[in-house]
Amino acid sequence: MCGIVGAVANRDITPVLIDGLKRLEYRGYDSAGLAVIGSAHELDLRRSVGRVANLEKISNNVNGHLGVAHTRWATHGKPAENNAHPHTSSHQVAVVHNGIIENHHELRTQQKALGFPFRSETDTEVIVHQIDWHMQQGHDLLNAVKATVCELHGAYGLGVVSKHEPGVLIAARSGSPLLIGFGDNENFIASDMSALIPVSQKYTVLEDGDIAKITVNSVNIFDAQGKEVERKVNISTLSDDETELEGYAHFMKKEIHEQTRAITETLEGRLGSDSVLELPFGDSAREIFDRTKELKIIACGTSYYSASVARYWFEEFGIKCDVEIASEYRYRKHVVNDGTLFMTISQSGETLDTMAALEMAKTLGYSNTLCVCNVPESSLVRASDLTIFTHAGREIGVASTKAFTTQLVTLLMIAICLRRRMLGDGREVDTLEKDVVKELRSLPQQIENVLDLEEDIISMSKHFGNKENALFLGRGAHFPIAMEGALKLKEISYIHAEAYAAGELKHGPLALIDEDMPVVAVAPNDELLEKLKSNLEEVRARGGKLFVFADVESGLESDAETMVLNVAPVNNYIAPILYVVPLQLLAYHVALIKGTDIDKPRNLAKSVTVE
Ligand code: G6P
Repeated sequence: MCGIVGAVANRDITPVLIDGLKRLEYRGYDSAGLAVIGSAHELDLRRSVGRVANLEKISNNVNGHLGVAHTRWATHGKPAENNAHPHTSSHQVAVVHNGIIENHHELRTQQKALGFPFRSETDTEVIVHQIDWHMQQGHDLLNAVKATVCELHGAYGLGVVSKHEPGVLIAARSGSPLLIGFGDNENFIASDMSALIPVSQKYTVLEDGDIAKITVNSVNIFDAQGKEVERKVNISTLSDDETELEGYAHFMKKEIHEQTRAITETLEGRLGSDSVLELPFGDSAREIFDRTKELKIIACGTSYYSASVARYWFEEFGIKCDVEIASEYRYRKHVVNDGTLFMTISQSGETLDTMAALEMAKTLGYSNTLCVCNVPESSLVRASDLTIFTHAGREIGVASTKAFTTQLVTLLMIAICLRRRMLGDGREVDTLEKDVVKELRSLPQQIENVLDLEEDIISMSKHFGNKENALFLGRGAHFPIAMEGALKLKEISYIHAEAYAAGELKHGPLALIDEDMPVVAVAPNDELLEKLKSNLEEVRARGGKLFVFADVESGLESDAETMVLNVAPVNNYIAPILYVVPLQLLAYHVALIKGTDIDKPRNLAKSVTVE
């Protein structure tokens, strides 16, 4: 999603802005731009469609000590140079903006009447004209921004500069993340600390309603009431190591292969000899778990599928669990039973729909809020009573892989903790818990074994290169795994893929089966295997081609119509975490054949901070 970088320094800041934008490229965007105030106090604006490299080419003669830059993900107005940020007014003020201004029509009408010319189709342009107008009324830049944000409805993270105040960078935030990075006689702003890795380790996260005036040697932050406030200064632990490809062709491939290490980190310190420990989840975890009688889980995208897998575990353990997509949850009425824990799941911790759902949930009488998240200090983490981190490490590929499997591992540990309460206090650790713990410990090695199937998966992927559709089937907890497999394939190969609970095949999708519709099935050796086998026969009988990931003990074999890849036998609870890995690899290798932009698929963003 859109990225912001800004800098005020005693040196030329153009390279800092370009480098920062490159570091935000992974978030997904369609155009980029920068505005720099030069030594003659002129505002130099450069914008281009596509990669930051395009912007870099046209910015090599830009110099200055103050500037803002932006990567845009189109919401209002198509990806085009005139819609790219920064937006300017009278060539005096420049603004970069993340978020959406809901009353932009109204403001546009008023500003047109005042004679402001509009050059873009964006909602952002009204912000810059409004600031310009307030400056024309005699306000300095800080007060012009203060006056403007009072007139905006919607969400914004803003970076603002004016050629009339060549040493002042203004930042403002409401609903979209924005932070200030401190340097040595230089200061920065960014929507994500990773943009500032080489220039700053110390940072402050702005809170909703905050406006900051930033110069080379001062930072003054004002809250929504205009009162000057101190915000906590944090030390970033991000390093460049996590943003290197380390020899892999794509971050997605690197991240698929990192899953062994990532899961080891997720488990680190959380398992006793034969039980899941609760203390490492945080001081309040025990109390919150004690209060929990049922669960409501809200998430988006891949995180929603991990919640959907976990629902099978929770309910199997006797804990009522309801799972819902955040964008649906936030626009309907709710009945909340006593003792319901509201849980959000998010890789980034910044997904706007999930965040809005959490804010709404806080007014509805849930017992507590718990977030399962990968990014420390993100918005969801700050807004939740308790966060249990997945420790996946930085995920850069837009298509989520290691974030998903580490979420599942975390959720299974939480399910075990809640199960104990369902069974009653003071019990010995029972066989089921011991088995799950043993299997969790062996999971990194088991994933390693699945990764060894890669050559076979490459052969399988060749059957998909010329296809336009694919169907994914699974049953039980492997139905959401099939959905995640279909999502991976469509995200990065652009092949239309959908998933069905295999038992539903006969209620519609069977009509689609022919030799051009590859059918991918997830077939672990569980109590639903025989039912699934019958569903696969229904496909074969209609001339469909099957690609099956099965347990060696499933008794499924390859033939002319069916390609079976075997996975080692595994405990039923762990199986979904393992079976998603070959689906990730399949999607990756099909996308390689299709030649798509795997790490930054068209139209998608890593972190969706707009509605
Ligand atoms: C975007 C990403 C997905 C992700 C979803 C939810 O759509 O491309 O990979 O699953 O957002 O993101 P979150 O950070 O909340 O897990």
